Amino acid sequence: MRGIEFHAEIGSTNDRALQLAVDGATPLPWAVVAEHQTSGRGRGANRWWTGNGALTFSLLVASPDDPSIGPLPAQISLTAGLAVRAALREHVPLAEIQLKWPNDVYINGRKVCGILVEIPSAARGRAVIGIGINVNNSVADAPDELRATAISLADVQGSRLDRVAIIEGVLNALHVEWKALIRSPAGEPQSDLRERWSGCCYLTGRIVRLDSAAGSTTGLCLGIDSDGALLLQTELGPSRHTSGVVRRIES
Ligand code: BTN
Repeated sequence: MRGIEFHAEIGSTNDRALQLAVDGATPLPWAVVAEHQTSGRGRGANRWWTGNGALTFSLLVASPDDPSIGPLPAQISLTAGLAVRAALREHVPLAEIQLKWPNDVYINGRKVCGILVEIPSAARGRAVIGIGINVNNSVADAPDELRATAISLADVQGSRLDRVAIIEGVLNALHVEWKALIRSPAGEPQSDLRERWSGCCYLTGRIVRLDSAAGSTTGLCLGIDSDGALLLQTELGPSRHTSGVVRRIES
């Protein structure tokens, strides 16, 4: 990291990082950390709940100028997810930590972390990776609609955790993972990302429904491809999906 700025309260760390991206003067990579967000954002029109004791930060990083040779938002999300997973494993070693395509990290089947990747069109070569982790904020205090689906590390562990150690762990792991994501001149991913993403994919082997601008698709999840696409086996054959909201269908 070339620098870290801390805010006791801010609207959204992603908004701040996007503003820095457009201003163009900030050395990269740069981190924006907040104790509390008043307008935390999730994917689409979703809001992000930041309870007391949560970890919320955004990273402004350099990304290849040309999206046709560089990582797509889903690939960046999944790579950040691997870094979060690696860091959390140090703190909750007994828990099952998985990636839910494309931008969530789950513990024991519940959401512990959301990732929001934004690539500003007005700042070529820059990407913002926003990460919210439920650490010491108990989900018992969360809004009703989150209580059944979310979890915090303190809920899992039964005690408070060191948020500085967690953010350090995420930054160190992301430094390693980022190198694996950046493509070679031939355009091929430099490592076994397909296996690594699919190996910890929460949806693999489950029947899911994916809703996207193109419509709804139901099928068996086969994992995640090396370009970050979700792989489904449908009644009409195999299909790949690069965007959308996916839900596991209970049977
Ligand atoms: C999602 O689950 O839809 C993504 C949630 C991302 C939340 C983080 S918290 C830090 C950063 N700032 C924001 O406003 N959002 C991201």
